[in-house]
Amino acid sequence: MSVLSVEKLAVSYGAIPAVEDISLVVPEGGLVTVIGPNGAGKSTLLNAIMGVLPSRGAIRFLGRDLGGMPVEARVHQGIALVPEKRELFATMSVADNLLLGGFRFGRRHAGDELDRVYGLFPRLRERHRQQAGTLSGGERQMLAMGRAMMGKPRLLMLDEPSLGLAPLIVRDIFRIIADLRATGVAILLVEQNARAALQVADRGYVLETGRVTLEGDAKTLAADPRIVEMYLGAASGSGLPSR
Ligand SMILES: Nc1ncnc2c1ncn2[C@@H]1O[C@H](COP(=O)(O)OP(=O)(O)OP(=O)(O)O)[C@@H](O)[C@H]1O
Ligand SMILES: [Mg+2]
Repeated sequence: MSVLSVEKLAVSYGAIPAVEDISLVVPEGGLVTVIGPNGAGKSTLLNAIMGVLPSRGAIRFLGRDLGGMPVEARVHQGIALVPEKRELFATMSVADNLLLGGFRFGRRHAGDELDRVYGLFPRLRERHRQQAGTLSGGERQMLAMGRAMMGKPRLLMLDEPSLGLAPLIVRDIFRIIADLRATGVAILLVEQNARAALQVADRGYVLETGRVTLEGDAKTLAADPRIVEMYLGAASGSGLPSR
C-alpha cells in the first residue's frame, strides 16, 4: 500500500494557479524526491499535503482521504513537515525544541522518544542544552528533522533540507536522510540539489511551473539527457546546491 497518494492536486493563490494537476505516490518506506527550480511550486505542494493550504484534487494517506482535515489531525495521522524556514524556537534549548515535537506522546513517553532521536542525531545529544538560535546551519537542519521525527511520523516531508548549507554539510544531511529512511519512515524530499536528491531517492518527479514534466526511477532520471542538461550539466557540474 502507498503511504501517500496525491491525485490531480491543484492549488491557487487567489486567481493565480501555483500547482496544477499533480499526481504522485510515495510507497511504504520509500524515498521520493520532487526536484525543480525556484517558484516551481514545490513548497506549495508540501504545504497543501500538510493542510496548511487549501487544495483541489485528492490526497490520500494510508488509504484515507484527507480532504478538509485540519493540520493538527494530519500530524496525528503521522504526517510531518520540515518547512523551508526551519521554524525553530531560537531562545529555547535543543532538548526543549525536540520535546515540543513529541507533544503527541505526552510527558510519559517523551523521554524514550528523545533517546531514539538522539540516537539518530548524536550531534544534538552533545548540544542538548545549547540555544537553538546559536546552532550552525547544518545543526539547525538536524534539529528541525529531529523535531519532526519526535512525532514518530509515517511520512516525513522535507522542504529543501540542503538549502544554504556548505557542500560538506550537505553530504552529512543527505547521509542522515538515508539513515532516517532506513528506520522505515517514508520520505517525500523536495530539493533543488537534483544530483544529491536523485542519488538518495528511489523515484523522482520534476516540477516546472506547477506541473510535473518528467517522472521515473531516480537512476533513470539522473541519466535522462533533459535532466542532465537542465540540472546536472556543466553549469551545475560541481554538484553543489545552486544557491
Ligand atoms: N503566499 C503566496 N501568495 C501568492 N503567491 C505565492 C505565495 N506563495 C507562493 N506563491 C507563488 O507560487 C509559486 C510557487 O511557489 P513555491 O514557493 O511553491 O515554489 P518553490 O518551488 O518552493 O520555490 P523555491 O525553490 O524558491 O522555494 C511562485 O510563483 C510563488 O511566487
Ligand atoms: Mg520552496
